[in-house]
Amino acid sequence: MAFTPRTAIVTGSDSGIGKATAVALARAGLDVGISWHTDAAGAEQTAEEVRSLGREAHVAQLDVTDLPGCGQVIDALADALGGLDVFVNNAGTGEQVKFLDLDYERWRRTVATDLDGAFVCMQRAARRMVEAGNGGRIIAVTSVHEHQPRVGSSAYDAAKHGLGGLVKTIALELGQYGITANAVAPGEIATPMTGQEDQDPRGTDRPGVPLGRPGDAREVAAVIAFLASPEAAYVTGASWVVDGGMLQMGPQAGSHITSPDWREG
Ligand code: NAI
Repeated sequence: MAFTPRTAIVTGSDSGIGKATAVALARAGLDVGISWHTDAAGAEQTAEEVRSLGREAHVAQLDVTDLPGCGQVIDALADALGGLDVFVNNAGTGEQVKFLDLDYERWRRTVATDLDGAFVCMQRAARRMVEAGNGGRIIAVTSVHEHQPRVGSSAYDAAKHGLGGLVKTIALELGQYGITANAVAPGEIATPMTGQEDQDPRGTDRPGVPLGRPGDAREVAAVIAFLASPEAAYVTGASWVVDGGMLQMGPQAGSHITSPDWREG
């Protein structure tokens, strides 16, 4: 069965990695469903870029903490697109609060956004792909914190580790339908989430990262677009790290840090 993707939904595509992914998929010839949470104008900008590439764009507001109602937004976007071949679960949030100070409400908000909402949206997307019988691609944007923790990010770390586990199980269960499921795990990327909206990261120094700088959202989008393509047909259950080598610094960083400042996050 040849997989020829024509339609994609990218959640949280009003900015950052989601926006860059929507544009990359449009460039690859796909019509794109775009979602926003609080930034309607950002989503319209993404839609303009998609349309300027000659593809259709459909825009909807999505709050993935509206559970399980958020699944209806995925269905509505897929209906508007006339199908769903690629689903990118990109919407996410994090916190910078240490474990002892993290209140339950904040914990719930992060886990609901990054894990519960992802479950509902990816399941809705997968059901449509199975029903259509054309195969499909499910890609979740996790984080290097799918694999390694960070001080002050206990809910984020738990949710992203969980999301990684969910993706692996989806890969096991949906392979028989020609659907692949993979994670893309970014390191530090210049986006609103890291306070670097629309900044070129090439001038920013990160001595502890082998490539020496943060990443650009388009560098993550390029990997997502590859995983969404027919050429990635034999990749499933993987987590592709896009981090400039950050995760490889474990023992190196551990043995060479000269101050206890890291304990404060
Ligand atoms: P961003 O702030 O540009 O994007 C976050 C997106 O999530 C926004 O589009 C927002 O609308 C959406 N969102 C947040 N809460 C939502 C909710 N309740 N319902 C629906 N949508 C919601 O930041 P960025 O960096 O592009 O983040 C995208 C993904 O990449 C997130 O999952 C994040 O965890 C992940 N990531 C980002 C890294 C970075 O350094 N920028 C590093 C590792 C992972």
